[in-house]
Amino acid sequence: MSDDNRTPNEQGPVDGVSESAYGAWHRRVLEGRAGLFAVATAVAISIGGLAEIVPMFTATDMGVGEDMPITPYTPLEVAGRDLYVREGCYLCHSQMVRPMRAEVLRYGEWSRAWEYRYDRPFLLGSRRLGPDLHRIAGKYPDAWHYEHMRDPRATSPGSIMPAYPWMLDRTVDPRIVTKSLRALQRVGHPYVDVTEENVRGSMQAQGSDIVASLQSAGIESQWDTEIVAMIAYLQRLGRDGKAVLSGIGAEQEEE
Ligand code: HEC
Repeated sequence: MSDDNRTPNEQGPVDGVSESAYGAWHRRVLEGRAGLFAVATAVAISIGGLAEIVPMFTATDMGVGEDMPITPYTPLEVAGRDLYVREGCYLCHSQMVRPMRAEVLRYGEWSRAWEYRYDRPFLLGSRRLGPDLHRIAGKYPDAWHYEHMRDPRATSPGSIMPAYPWMLDRTVDPRIVTKSLRALQRVGHPYVDVTEENVRGSMQAQGSDIVASLQSAGIESQWDTEIVAMIAYLQRLGRDGKAVLSGIGAEQEEE
């Protein structure tokens, strides 16, 4: 230790480090003055806030697309979506294709606001350790998803995605799915006749189609397994939006 009582700030550059590399000027002006720094931070955050808040009150068309033919998730898809939340898939996968060339070439049409009308809670995700899944519907056959969930390395060599083998055996309880649907109904999703019987019937009908498609690939499964619900959900993601955008919707969007 030297006898120098000055703080490192006051001492200036370390020997051998140039003044500019040390960035002395901004350290002195901002970091050394808590009051000024707090004011500068508040100003910066306010500008960011205004940029987000003002358009919300002034824009007349938020791109909500009330008239876009988007349908709510079916009971089996809701079950799959609940599993997606339970397993934390959103921690590695986003559900938003950004309007940039590289993304559109890789994933397809960029995501529109109205496509999320029935996404409660939304599952946009905030990072991508894996690919975006907003347009995953139809990209792979059902059997591919089955194998991929059982062991991601089996379909995608070198994948860092965890395996979810329990989904192959565990079943989904239609009673719980009924509760999910009632909750969604309460926040405005247009479901009608939400009874346990109807939910079970709908799940069984849709699940049996997936079981049949798995069977044609030599895989035995049951309509009420978690994997079947997950496949239903994945094969649905972005489907409505894609259909609209590749048809008449695309022209309207051009305006
Ligand atoms: C630790 C991060 C991580 C988690 C958690 C994760 N994934 Fe993945 N996922 C990946 C990576 C990395 C890939 C790319 C390699 C591959 O295909 O396995 C991937 C690929 C995929 C693909 C294929 C995407 C494509 O376009 O080829 C699907 C579908 C998928 N994941 C679904 C899921 C589901 C459903 C869950 C939750 C049950 C999940 N993932 C959880 C990392 C993750």
